[in-house]
Amino acid sequence: MTELWQEKVHDEARQGEAYAPLPGEEIAYGRKFYIESYGCQMNFSDSEIVASILNMEGFGATRQVEEADLVLLNTCSIREKAEQTVRKRLVEFRSLKKQKPGLLVGVLGCMAERLKTKLLEEEQLVDLVVGPDAYRTLPGLIQEAGDGHKAVNVLLSRDETYADIAPVRLDSNGVTAFVSIMRGCNNMCSFCVVPFTRGRERSRDAASIESECRDLFNRGFREVTLLGQNVDSYHWVNEQSGTVVSFANLLERIAQINPLLRIRFSTSHPKDITDHVLEVMASYPNICRYIHLPVQSGSTRILQLMNRTYTREWYLAKVQRIREYMPDCGISSDIIAGFCTEKEEDHEDTLDVMRKSLYDFSYMFMYSERPGTLAAKRYEDDIPEMVKKRRLSEIIDLQNRLSLESNERDLGKTFEVLVEGNSRRSDDYWMGRNSQNKVIVFPKAAYPGLQPGAYADVTVRRCTQGTLLGE
Ligand code: SAH
Ligand code: SF4
Ligand code: F3S
Repeated sequence: MTELWQEKVHDEARQGEAYAPLPGEEIAYGRKFYIESYGCQMNFSDSEIVASILNMEGFGATRQVEEADLVLLNTCSIREKAEQTVRKRLVEFRSLKKQKPGLLVGVLGCMAERLKTKLLEEEQLVDLVVGPDAYRTLPGLIQEAGDGHKAVNVLLSRDETYADIAPVRLDSNGVTAFVSIMRGCNNMCSFCVVPFTRGRERSRDAASIESECRDLFNRGFREVTLLGQNVDSYHWVNEQSGTVVSFANLLERIAQINPLLRIRFSTSHPKDITDHVLEVMASYPNICRYIHLPVQSGSTRILQLMNRTYTREWYLAKVQRIREYMPDCGISSDIIAGFCTEKEEDHEDTLDVMRKSLYDFSYMFMYSERPGTLAAKRYEDDIPEMVKKRRLSEIIDLQNRLSLESNERDLGKTFEVLVEGNSRRSDDYWMGRNSQNKVIVFPKAAYPGLQPGAYADVTVRRCTQGTLLGE
């Protein structure tokens, strides 16, 4: 949903970007791999683990698909459209393979997990199919595929967290990084394919998370985003001491690394975010005042069908609670339009929750039925495409207005901005974000000597619905 942001922000906005190493971190490798990632931040983070495994095998990253010996697509199954995009890309690669015999094409991630051998057998599109928990076996699979065998590993694991693998930061701005803290999901939201493609929930060793964050800080990074499908159910038990680390404990531990290291996290399930987490957030200024709290629908009846386990009132009370702890906290959401049986009044309830929650921005989607999910088995996908589209566009229009109003409330305010790099529009401007995750663009001339990774106090003078402009 890039239209909400003129500057590129994060997760769903990103699609199919190729990766390349950080300047100064290029090493000469014998063979080259090219990787494109689709879907959520988790997938982008996984690609960095894959890169690390491939580096150890003597493969270096390239941005030029023509020079690659191995082409990988790290794929997403969340909506049908996401899968179609990947299929189109695979057809393009098939013709590349004709020109370059010996080129290996592999599918990683959620589509690999969902379709398993289908892509390999039925359609002859790929040489390699590797699910999200099987990346350690990539070297052997590449070997097999190179020898002309079918190379597939889509086994899901109950304990794989790749805790010991140091991700290779690819295509990084050197300032912000993702750190995966858990994998899988135990919730069973009825519309969602993730529990099937990512397997059971498991948390990563807290000490390895801390040391990865510390290492990033020492290398000049100034912001980490802790990633999981449901971060609030993070739960790690230290087997030696018996100490239990909750998400709130983990947040506190990472916040204590250095006051100059900003911490973000995603995603919070409204049913699981605790007062303890809010307390910790409120007491550490370097934990960003921003929570992504997907509502999905504003109708209690629909929420029940979605198996979200909260009501609209419960959700609104949670938003209220967040604002009590942190009046300046940014809140964003995910919203699905046209879920099974959705009536006009349900849709109105969604618009109403949006107005009451005053989201700063949202990711908004039309319901897309996914094979194998509870909703696909139990309910009919009965809302006509036209109606879904119209409801979605009403949701988007409302969000655009809420985003603009939220930005207008920031006019005249001064924010601490972490500089990430040049503005996309002009090299005369810096681009960074405030604690609330809003993008702020401001002229370099006013801040001589400033560099990416530094903090600047910027006063907002103008705004659009997507960006704040400082002067
Ligand atoms: N774990 C996160 C979300 C992961 S998927 C969470 O629980 O919030 C990201 C978003 O995609 C979801 O929040 C939902 O809004 C959307 N989504 C998931 N399945 C979908 C489907 N079948 N059709 C349309 N949107 C979907
Ligand atoms: Fe999907 Fe729900 Fe898990 Fe999020 S919490 S990944 S929406 S099942
Ligand atoms: Fe897509 Fe898988 Fe993420 S389905 S949203 S890439 S967990």
